[in-house]
Amino acid sequence: MTLQTGYELPAAAVRRLESLVSAIERNPGRMVDPVELAALQERVDMRPAFAALPETLSEDDFVGVLKLALLTECATDSYAAVIEDRASRYQAGWLGRFTRDTWVPDERMHHAPYRTMLERAGIAAEELDREIEETQTRTYIHHSGDTPIHITAFGMVQEYLTDHWHGRIAQLLRQSSPEAAAMANQIKRRETIHTIWYRDMTALQLEANPRLMRHVAEAVAHFRMPGSVLVPELEAQVPRWLPALGTDFERLTSELIRHIHAMAGDTADAARLLLTIAEERGLKVGPLPAGLVSRALNRLGGPGYGLLGEAVLQRVGLGYLFEAEQRAAGPGSERARVGRVRALVRNWLADQIDIRLEPA
Ligand SMILES: [Fe+2]
Ligand SMILES: [Fe+2]
Repeated sequence: MTLQTGYELPAAAVRRLESLVSAIERNPGRMVDPVELAALQERVDMRPAFAALPETLSEDDFVGVLKLALLTECATDSYAAVIEDRASRYQAGWLGRFTRDTWVPDERMHHAPYRTMLERAGIAAEELDREIEETQTRTYIHHSGDTPIHITAFGMVQEYLTDHWHGRIAQLLRQSSPEAAAMANQIKRRETIHTIWYRDMTALQLEANPRLMRHVAEAVAHFRMPGSVLVPELEAQVPRWLPALGTDFERLTSELIRHIHAMAGDTADAARLLLTIAEERGLKVGPLPAGLVSRALNRLGGPGYGLLGEAVLQRVGLGYLFEAEQRAAGPGSERARVGRVRALVRNWLADQIDIRLEPA
């Protein structure tokens, strides 16, 4: 697999990225508060949580779920080394600065709460020390492309899925161990913000150079969680753990598509991007290979992308993103009549599309 390397941005776009990073530095949102965290850590009791686990999740499983959070959060420096290397290779000072000065200090706060939860669950400190050291000494090999837009698109998906993981843990602990749930939620909130930061960085690059859409599609299509490289034995259990943690896969997909829609800027470009992702993954739209659909739509000059985009949004329950605009046209108008025909085709298309984010 050879990923695209051509990466060019006009100087004005680089300046916009520099100002976005400066704005993030000025207001990074509410970081994890060490004092608040220490107070929660002191009170955490994990016994009720382990006593109240769902039947599908054994005690060992739950230890694994918490260890995956701990160990992947411990490896911040490995990810930062990869990102900073790519940033300097492509002279993306903004990405290096963001990683070093904002992202790393923020991420360094994320592992400690999980260590506390595991210790309170009776896991020996020496075992945790050893596993942390093993993970930190492993080399993180990045598989999803090297240009800055590959990195930020990858970052968006990775933060999004990490956000989900902390969120599921918080939900599971909400009643049985509220202090542990509060800690997991504090971290979850940071990952939500990181998702948006990476999304906006990707959007700025894409807007300035639409040819980079292929890079974004590659990063998303070839995405692999860093845990699959750093803690493969735990990551391999995730497909089994997610349903036990109550993951709603439809919703997980729908929210990711909402981010992709926001990143692409409009419904037609979101469709173009999703189709390129599908093509990269060798997927089909109904009976047709995504690549063929994409070539046909390109030949038509692209008007079909808008309709395809609407069908995707409708399929994942995000129809409101385009409906409000169409309602504004009024019921008797020409636009409304065209709209009814459009709806017929859109419904047919939506039936052909099967998208669901499932663990690999
Ligand atoms: Fe984190
Ligand atoms: Fe993060």
